[in-house]
Formats: sequence, structure tokens, C-alpha cells
Amino acid sequence: MQENTNVLFTNAFEEDIYNGLTKYPKQLSSKYFYDANGDKLFQDIMKMPEYYLTDCEFSILEKYKEEISALFYKHEQAFSFIELGAGDGKKTKILLEYFSHKKIDFKYQPIDISQNALDLLEKSLNQELPNVTVEKLQGSYFDALNKAHIQNDVKKIILFLGSNIGNMLHHEAIDFLNSIGDYMHSEDLFLVGFDLKKNPQTILDAYNDPTGITAAFNKNILLRINTSLDANFNLDAFKHWETYNPETGTAKSYLVSTKDQEVTLKNLDLKIEFKAWETIHTEVSQKYDDQTVEHIAKSAGLEIVTQFSDEKTYYKNYIFRKQSSNI
Ligand SMILES: C[S@@+](CC[C@H](N)C(=O)[O-])C[C@H]1O[C@@H](n2cnc3c(N)ncnc32)[C@H](O)[C@@H]1O
Repeated sequence: MQENTNVLFTNAFEEDIYNGLTKYPKQLSSKYFYDANGDKLFQDIMKMPEYYLTDCEFSILEKYKEEISALFYKHEQAFSFIELGAGDGKKTKILLEYFSHKKIDFKYQPIDISQNALDLLEKSLNQELPNVTVEKLQGSYFDALNKAHIQNDVKKIILFLGSNIGNMLHHEAIDFLNSIGDYMHSEDLFLVGFDLKKNPQTILDAYNDPTGITAAFNKNILLRINTSLDANFNLDAFKHWETYNPETGTAKSYLVSTKDQEVTLKNLDLKIEFKAWETIHTEVSQKYDDQTVEHIAKSAGLEIVTQFSDEKTYYKNYIFRKQSSNI
């Protein structure tokens, strides 16, 4: 492996890729799955029968939209509806449509690291729900939140769907929720989707489909590095691998090098060596139980207002507010 301490990075992507591939064991962040190709692959994943998460969350929002809206629009107070990692907004549109129909006074502020996802979301909302005011914000969660024009005197409803919280280990989730709490006032609410522990095979199947869509999604990070950093990863020389530990509830995705090989990233002036069967860890998909959600919420200074589950108890949406002692 060639270490190059003189590289000047032009953006966070370059720096993260450099650091991730030069450490041991190698690691890349799942936030870099998402470009136009990755967004499309994730939409295909959501349509897979094995990927139960989307249908479960969709059914919860559809069933409880009236109850959820009543909590959000208590005292008919206008709010900013801020969504972290909005993606294609497929499930959010259930709420947006309901709010629009009920003439609820709100502004929708989707945040996403993928500009492509935001542009497509805005376009589809302009067509499907032209009355909804959309203010998109590109960037990683906190960069975008810091850039956002968030009025302090307006109530905030923050949304974090799709088990995006599952991309964090527990200590990271606590830090994340704690930092979101810093943006919240007493009347603000935070709706979060948690995927639950269940039959380990059901979980493995969701991240390891027979058609290879998930493998293509995982490998998209290499494709993106090839395109953006003039690199020569051979995608066929890496294997998608999923693990699930039913004790900790942690699913992990890897790319495993199937042979000794060297990869060049010209834009970073970097050569990386892989030994046969060496791994790149790419994603965490944490599964929860009620005690763990309660623990991380409490540790982050949040309290549970309510929770909703799908019929199979595969998935839950929790609504949090700031603990009264932290206000
Ligand atoms: C698993 S998808 C879920 C999309 C949507 N919330 C849903 O439930 O269908 C994750 C989305 O979050 C975005 N994302 C991932 N990590 C991010 C980060 N650190 N900051 C901002 N957006 C991120 C991705 O671009 C993608 O659109």
C-alpha cells in the first residue's frame, strides 16, 4: 500500500475514501452508495419482496397518518417538516398528501446527500402535490441542517425514515439523536423508523437477494470511486457479503476481495493492495428491540411520546420529544 501524506483533498468524499482505504481493516461509508445509479438501485431494493422494511413502514404511515398528523398539528401550529435522508420520499408522500388534503400549514424541507434524489423528489412533488412548499437541502445531515434556514420561532417536526438510524452503531446513534435534540424545542417532535430484531434469516435475505440487486448496490461505491477518482476497481473481483449477529442485532455488509490485487486511484495518486479475502466494510444495518430504543433515546435526552408498529411487529416508528429536564 502506498501512503501519500501530501494529497490535498478537494472534498470530503476524496478524504473519506482515502482514509477508508488506507486503514486496516478497510472501511467505506454507506452514505457514498447514493448517486444517480445508487438511488435507482435503492429504489429497486425497496421493490424487492425480501426487503420488507419499506412495506412495513408504508403500512404504518398509511394506517396511523391521522393520529400522527394530530400530534404534529396540535393547536394548529404551523411547522417546518424537516426530513433527514429523504430519498424518493415514497412513504413521506403519504403524510404530505394527508397534510395537504387537511390544509395543514407546513413547509417541507428534505435533506439528502444525493442531489439527484432531491431533484427527482422536488420534480415529483411539484407534479403530484403542487400546493406543498418544498425547500430542498443538499448535504450530509448536519452540514445541511446547519445551512438550512430554520426559523427558531417555528415549530419543527423532524423525520428520519427507512431505518437510516440503523446505519449507526449504538454509540453513534446516541450522539446523533443527542445532536438532533440540540435543534429541538419543547414542542418539536422527531419521528424515527427502527427496524426490529426478528428471524435472522428474514434479515439476511433482505440484504442478500438472489437477483443480485443488493450486491450491485454495495458495489456501486466502487463504481463511483472509479468514475469520480479515475480508479480501476474490477467489480467482478469483489464479492458482496452480509452478516447478521442476532445477539447484538447488527447486520454488516462487506465487499470481499476474491484474489490478491492492486487498485489505482489516479486522482488521489494512490495504489491500494488487497490480499485475497480481505474485506472492505461498507454498511451497518442495526436492528432494535424496545429496550434498546428506550435506552438510546434516554441516553440522548429524548423521551418517547408514542410508537406505532406494523402487523407483523417487524418495524416500529417512534415519536420522540426532548426530555422536559433538557429544555
Ligand atoms: C436507505 S435510503 C432511505 C430513503 C428514505 N428515507 C426512505 O425511507 O425510503 C437513505 C437515504 O439517505 C441519504 N443519506 C444517507 N446517508 C446520508 C447522510 N449522512 N447525510 C444525508 N443523507 C444521507 C441517501 O442519499 C438516501 O437517499
